[in-house]
Amino acid sequence: MAIQWFPGHMTKARRQIEEKLKLIDVAIELLDARLPYSSRNPMIDDILGTKPRLVLLNKSDLADRAVTDEWLAYFARRELEALPVDSVTGHRVNDLLPACKRLLAERIERRASKGMLAGAIRALIVGIPNVGKSTLINKLAGRKVAATGDKPGVTKGQQWIKAMGGELELLDTPGVLWPKFEDQQVGMRLAITGAIKEEVIQVGDVGYTALHYLLDNYRDALRERYALDGLAEGSAKDDLKAADTADREVILSVMEEIGRKRGCVVSGGEIDYDKTALVILRDLRAGKLGRISLERP
Ligand code: G4P
Repeated sequence: MAIQWFPGHMTKARRQIEEKLKLIDVAIELLDARLPYSSRNPMIDDILGTKPRLVLLNKSDLADRAVTDEWLAYFARRELEALPVDSVTGHRVNDLLPACKRLLAERIERRASKGMLAGAIRALIVGIPNVGKSTLINKLAGRKVAATGDKPGVTKGQQWIKAMGGELELLDTPGVLWPKFEDQQVGMRLAITGAIKEEVIQVGDVGYTALHYLLDNYRDALRERYALDGLAEGSAKDDLKAADTADREVILSVMEEIGRKRGCVVSGGEIDYDKTALVILRDLRAGKLGRISLERP
């Protein structure tokens, strides 16, 4: 991750968001649809308080549809309005305004009963690095207004961006929050999606964990992508778990086969483990293995 989060940065990031909350009607919490739990800031409920909130499951184009539906049901049970979106193509981004209106229905009605115009809905996008905040802002603005890549604590002049025919106004600088680093599984899952860079966690370990998860949950996709004809039929386990020794041999032999097929071989004829891990991770991140979700509610 580009950002080094120290306690001072966290306090500052939180304070900046709390300042911005005073200016807005609704907070838009952006999560990664492939890992809505791990891409969530641990203090988000506390930070947003009673501010009306819309949860967006971004990158839904990369996530398993059935699992995304489970997450939508999960958020509905928790009485949080949630929407799956794809900020690159803009798929379902237009549903954002009606969703905000539903959240603010009471206020809008109250104003109407006093003969006042509804006015534009003012919103702030918040989320951890890499979740797609800038991409969404640019999509909503219809032009490049937000730079991709985050720097915490850098304040620049804030501007309102008009979107949805002027019915929505968005702060151009998103609220950047930190992930749950204290949980190792969270770090690993974020690394699998590329939200945490390989310099922080060994690429071989990330690739190994990803392969283990794919073998447990998306075996057919693996078989198809790498022509692993010898691989037994799929098994579906519930969640990403730490590698156990029983599966180790299978995982390593599949790694070996993929490495050979992709030409990731070093001079002695051994496979280049890190290179093979990168092949798998790049394919997974680019959606070449199909739609993959990394966690369920
Ligand atoms: P941020 O502001 O929250 O940090 O995220 P940003 O918009 O920079 O997006 C991070 C990466 O995620 C970008 O890829 C962006 O194109 C991609 N992305 C954002 N929304 C979506 C989405 O809905 N679907 C898909 N498939 N991708 C999305 P990138 O420019 O390639 O960056 P990187 O991969 O080199 O970090």
